[in-house]
Amino acid sequence: MVNNIALIGFMGTGKSVVGRSLAHRLGWYFLELDEKIEEMAGKSITDIFHENGEEYFRELESSVLKGIRDCEDTVISCGGGVVLDPGNVKLLRRHSTVVLLTATPEVIAERIIDDDCRPLLKEENKLKRIEDMMGQRRDTYRGCAEYTIDTSGLEVDEVVNRIIEEVNP
Ligand code: S3P
Repeated sequence: MVNNIALIGFMGTGKSVVGRSLAHRLGWYFLELDEKIEEMAGKSITDIFHENGEEYFRELESSVLKGIRDCEDTVISCGGGVVLDPGNVKLLRRHSTVVLLTATPEVIAERIIDDDCRPLLKEENKLKRIEDMMGQRRDTYRGCAEYTIDTSGLEVDEVVNRIIEEVNP
């Protein structure tokens, strides 16, 4: 019986804030993968990307995700690119109920507009970059998830309620 919920989805879909709140509501642990990666590397995600490159970041990400094998009653908030590695997808599906959070590119662009901590979105035309990346990843996200919740226009509490209704943890 799997007793974890993993939140996946594009940057800015609310995985961290929803995950924290969901864990609180369920009385579960909360694990933020990006935070663990930063702890492991001893530097920020932005610095990892700049100083070591994306490939190194992905290695750390896969290595940190392996910790899910020891998790129980845990909500795991994953970085947006975790699903790019098929091994990660397998691990997520084996050890958690995977919930995909989505939002429209416009909503995401608005949410991350003043955000400086996402190296992959450091582009002049953010909306176009988001649309392109989402297009490339859409099928991979859908292939990994058991449940999908569109967070556009929903408050954090509403998303949490929706997850609890659907997953019934
Ligand atoms: C990434 C998403 C980020 C972070 C890194 C790469 C991605 O996490 O892991 O910048 O490839 O989509 P969030 O989705 O929490 O922003």
